[in-house]
Amino acid sequence: MTEILRDKAALRARVTAWKRAGETVGVVPTMGALHQGHLSLVQAATAGADRVIVTIFVNPKQFNTPSDLENYPRTEHADADKLVPFGVDAVYVPGPDEIYPDGFATSVHVEGLTGILCGAFRPGHFDGVTTVVSKLFLQTGADRAWFGEKDYQQLQVVRRMARDLDIPIEVIGCPTVREPDGLALSSRNLLLPADARARAPAMGREMRGMAEALTAGRSMAELTAHASAALAQAGFDKVEYLELRAADGLALLDRADRPARLLAAAWIGGVRLIDNIAVG
Ligand code: PAF
Repeated sequence: MTEILRDKAALRARVTAWKRAGETVGVVPTMGALHQGHLSLVQAATAGADRVIVTIFVNPKQFNTPSDLENYPRTEHADADKLVPFGVDAVYVPGPDEIYPDGFATSVHVEGLTGILCGAFRPGHFDGVTTVVSKLFLQTGADRAWFGEKDYQQLQVVRRMARDLDIPIEVIGCPTVREPDGLALSSRNLLLPADARARAPAMGREMRGMAEALTAGRSMAELTAHASAALAQAGFDKVEYLELRAADGLALLDRADRPARLLAAAWIGGVRLIDNIAVG
């Protein structure tokens, strides 16, 4: 049985003892509904730190609508079972008061990186993410943290936040894990109706085709209209963005003239999916 800790005092006591013994501490922050993508982070963490904490907290501050928060899958017991084979040292499942006590009045905001891509469509989302992640970093006192490249913008934002605030933690990105049909794993995939689930891999397929064309020297201006039409044809209701950005710093690009990332967000079957892929 993995130990579940629900308050920061108990968490601190564990971490203090580990650090006193000279052990390194890793953290994998999650909102639960764990899938193989999360478990790949946990696997990497167990190889990269002496002690590993997995946090599970469905963070209300990063949801844009009450229904999205309400519908978010909550599967704490199944999550704890999935972690057993990895021998993690603690699962931290804080109650809301441990994170946002009465009168909580602070928000962590990263300028620039958060106003583009998902940030342009989800106002306040990244402030919610950086506020909770900074708290989880400080509460766990971890030396290293693992995040999925599936949320590529989040990874960049969290890195910048830790650097700017001098939080002494190394933020490590891990490759996206995909279903056999190419769909990037996400807790939101559970919400897809069957027909939308069958069509959803079209997004990754289109993006892979674009990435090949961009690597061969084509431009976004030449490729975007065709890709958006192909997604509409596949049943996507709305493409929020489909953009090429510098892998480091996320400057908008037309051509892959430096290490780049193709990023997309689109709606299908009432569910918002995001994906990204390295280019060049
Ligand atoms: O990626 C997520 O699951 C969340 O955004 C995170 C990092 C756990 C913060 O709530």
